[in-house]
Amino acid sequence: MNFSNEIKNIPIVSIITEAAKESGIEVFLVGGVVRDLILKRDRSDLDFLVIGDSLKFAEKVANKIGIQKVTKFRNFGTAHFIYENYDIEFVGARKESYNRDSRKPIVEDGTFEDDIKRRDFTINAMAISLNDKNFGELIDIFNGYNDLHNKLIKTPLDPFQTFDDDPLRIMRAFRFAAQLEFQVDETIMKAAKEMKERLRIVSQERITDEFLKILSAPKPSIGFKLLYDSEVLQIIFPEIHNLAGVDQRQDYHHKDVFLHTLIVVDNISQVTENLWLRFAALVHDIAKPQTKKFVEGIGWTFHGHEELGARMMKNIFHRMKLPMNKLEYVEKLVRLHLRPIALAKEEVTDSAIRRLIVQAGDDLQDLITLCRADITSKNPQKVEKYLANYEAVMQKVLEVREKDRLRAFQSPVRGDEIMKICNLKPSKKVGVIKKAIEEAILDGVIENSYEAALEYLMKIKDDFLKENDS
Ligand code: CTP
Repeated sequence: MNFSNEIKNIPIVSIITEAAKESGIEVFLVGGVVRDLILKRDRSDLDFLVIGDSLKFAEKVANKIGIQKVTKFRNFGTAHFIYENYDIEFVGARKESYNRDSRKPIVEDGTFEDDIKRRDFTINAMAISLNDKNFGELIDIFNGYNDLHNKLIKTPLDPFQTFDDDPLRIMRAFRFAAQLEFQVDETIMKAAKEMKERLRIVSQERITDEFLKILSAPKPSIGFKLLYDSEVLQIIFPEIHNLAGVDQRQDYHHKDVFLHTLIVVDNISQVTENLWLRFAALVHDIAKPQTKKFVEGIGWTFHGHEELGARMMKNIFHRMKLPMNKLEYVEKLVRLHLRPIALAKEEVTDSAIRRLIVQAGDDLQDLITLCRADITSKNPQKVEKYLANYEAVMQKVLEVREKDRLRAFQSPVRGDEIMKICNLKPSKKVGVIKKAIEEAILDGVIENSYEAALEYLMKIKDDFLKENDS
């Protein structure tokens, strides 16, 4: 299979081909970029495999295009620079072996094949030649192209070996499955389950990075189900793992809080890219196991789970090294996620609505988005009823906001001044004129400034005074 047409459009390719020819060494486009090229996914990272001294080769290419800054990692045999918004990386073909207690590879020079077979998945182990003799040819030793076609994540070697080399790949398998909506091969599931403890040598930052990529996928439940089935979730996020098997009310149709949570996360992912809103959806019921109680005549209750859940966030954010500036937002959404439905149920007072407006602040719309996603009933009538309830709450919010706005709103030209300008004593007339100015501002006839209000007063005052005289 030949991809010369597709790669010709990449600006640096012809320069690399020329440099490879001059140096007498072979260079290939390799890894994720080949996968994404076949899938027609955009990407800005380009990886080039150099069968020879990659640092020297990177310098040569950089010289040709006038790039000054080449960042080199001698120990890993990699060099990179930025060119026309592309992140260009050169890697020397290598053979790696691993020390079992660390993810840091011991790197030795290797052949093209050594390099390809140490890669994580067959779909990431393809290369495209940039060399004159077979420019554009796909080199696919492990049938990655077929696996791409069959939407399958598989390792080139025995997965026990691939994961033993780098346990983070367990997370990567599930991440690619979620991002690309692929299946993972059974052998991967078996190895992941048996080797999950090895994830403990991986830094929390890397685990969290993959975890958040799963949450950013179009349908995150694909990744979370794999995390759960392989029992990896127990290690990386036990609180979510523990939601499985917790029954909730029958009328939710599916009784398990974990499965309910996955539906909520998928629902919200259809309407927002906001990762932290998705995260809030993932954790909104996190304290249900701890608060679960059976009450005769009512069934299972989870009294206070929203408050306890909000309080659990701080530890989880610390442990998972999540950005602390998102903590308050997530806490707020977890804490308030039941409030809108409570306000829809009965005749509510303005002050209850006002409390929600104040507590939710700028995040009220996000809270409602979460509440809507939280409706997982399979009964269309119920869904319609719940959605209508949220509409009603938002309508009340608008009404209360409008009332408050009118109450707080004052004409920039005050009563005293109107009296002076119109030569009036304190009277109803002053109020009528002031109201006319306020209405003109609210209707957008004039802007909300002192100057505009004064000018408007001068324009209308005679009519009002005349009217009042008659
Ligand atoms: N790779 C690997 N094992 C890892 C990380 C990376 O074998 N733990 C290899 C894969 O061949 C991968 C390539 O290095 O395709 C580049 O890695 P990276 O940029 O992390 O991933 P991509 O596959 O490019 O995908 P993405 O950019 O979506 O993360």
